[in-house]
Amino acid sequence: MSIIQVHGLQPLKGEVGIQGSKNAVLPMMAASILHRGTVVLTHVPRIQDVYCMKGILEYMGCECTLEGDRLTIHTDALTDIHIPEKYLKAMRSSIMMLGGLLGRCKEAVTCYPGGCSIGERPIDLHLYALRTLGAEVEERDGVIRATAGRLQGGEIDFSFPSVGATENALLAAVLAEGITVIRGAAREPEIMELCTMLNSMGAKVTGGGSEVIRVEGVKGLHDTVFEVPGDRIAAGTYLSCIMASQGEAVLTGVCPRQMTAVLCAVKDMGAEIKEYDKEIAIAMKGRPKAVNLKTEPYPGFPTDLQSPMLSLLAIGEGTGSIRETIFEGRFATAYELRKMGANIRVEEEKALAAGTYPLTGCPVEASDLRGGAALVVAGLAAEGDTIIRNCGHILRGYEDICRDLQKLGADIRRIL
Ligand code: UD1
Repeated sequence: MSIIQVHGLQPLKGEVGIQGSKNAVLPMMAASILHRGTVVLTHVPRIQDVYCMKGILEYMGCECTLEGDRLTIHTDALTDIHIPEKYLKAMRSSIMMLGGLLGRCKEAVTCYPGGCSIGERPIDLHLYALRTLGAEVEERDGVIRATAGRLQGGEIDFSFPSVGATENALLAAVLAEGITVIRGAAREPEIMELCTMLNSMGAKVTGGGSEVIRVEGVKGLHDTVFEVPGDRIAAGTYLSCIMASQGEAVLTGVCPRQMTAVLCAVKDMGAEIKEYDKEIAIAMKGRPKAVNLKTEPYPGFPTDLQSPMLSLLAIGEGTGSIRETIFEGRFATAYELRKMGANIRVEEEKALAAGTYPLTGCPVEASDLRGGAALVVAGLAAEGDTIIRNCGHILRGYEDICRDLQKLGADIRRIL
C-alpha cells in the first residue's frame, strides 16, 4: 500500500506544468487499433491507467514503447480480440476498447464490468450504440461477445450524454460503411480532442464537442503523431490545492477555455484568476467563501472535481453544498474529511459543509482517485500531519502529485 504524508498550512507559491490528460489519452490509445500502422502520442502522462491500457494493447499483440512522454504504438500485429478481466477490474475505461476492436476486427470479447466505489457504472448506452451500427451483442454469464459481419453507419440517439459511450460509438463508426450521426453526444473537451486525433488519421468526423457528431465512414486510416492536451481535472485539483493553502501560483500547459465552470466556481469562492492562452494564474487570500455547486455533464461543473471542491467547502467561510448528479456513490471522501474535523452532512445526492479552519491532520484512507486527491487538498489546510493511505488510487490519475506540489513549496512526500 502506498502512503502520502502532507504537513499543512504552508502557502503554495510558484509555477507548475500540467500533465497530459488522462481522460483524453485513454480513448486515443484505444483509437490507435483502428489503424494498421503506427500511432505516436506525445505529452502522455506516466500514470497507472496509461500503463494498464498499454498492457491491454500489448496483450492483444501491439508493440508499445513509452519513452519520456512519447508513446509509440505499432498496431500491425494485433491478433487477440479478448479484453482480459484483470484489466477491466484495474481500469473500467478499458471498456472503450470494444468500439475499436469491433471497428478493426469486427469482433470483441470482454467481461461485464461490475459496480465500483463511485457508483454503478452500467454500459447499456455503449452496447446500444454498437448494436445500432449493426453489431450483435451477446451477454452470457458476465461475458460480452460483440460481433459484426459488417458495421453499417446509423442514427444513434443517446438518452444521456455518456462520455465513454460517445467514444465507443465514434470508434465503431470511423470504419463503418456510410454515415453515422450521434445525437445527444457528450460534449467534453476530450471528445473533441478524440475527433481531432481521428481526423489526423484520416477519419471524417465533424461536430466533435457539440451534441451532434457526424461520422462519414472511411476504408482505412494512416499514421499520425498527436499531442495529448493538458489535463483540466489535474489543473482543477492543483487550483484547489493552491486555494486550500491560501497561496499564489501559475499553472502552465492547460487551456482555461475548457475550464469555464470550474473557474467560475473558484472565482465565486474568492480566488483571483487570470486566464491566458494555455496558462492560469491564481491568487487566494483568506479562506474560500461558501458556494452551492451541482455536478453536470460538460460544460457544467465536472463530477471529477466534486471531491476536491468538497475539501474546499469543508474549510470555507459559511455553509456550502454540492449536489452530485452523475455518480451516486461519490461522497465516500466526506467521511474521511470528517475524521479531520470537517463538519459535513451527506443527504442522498447532496453534501452540505459548514466550514471549519484549520482541519486537523490524521490518518485517512483514499477510496477513489479524485477522493484521494481531495484528501491532499484537505491536508494542505490541516494542522499537523495528514497520512493518506491507499494512495495507489491517486497514482492512477496523477503522474506525481508530490513532485508537483513540492515544486510549489508544499511539505508533502510519499512515505511508502
Ligand atoms: C468519464 C470519465 C470520468 C468522468 C465521467 C463523467 C474517462 C476515462 N472517464 O467516465 O473521469 O467522471 O466521464 O464526466 O473519460 N451511464 C449509463 N449507461 C452507460 C454509460 C454511462 O447509465 O452505458 C451513466 C453512468 O452510470 C453515470 C453517467 O452515465 O451516471 C456518466 O457516465 P459516463 O459519462 O459514461 O462516464 P465514463 O465515460 O464512465
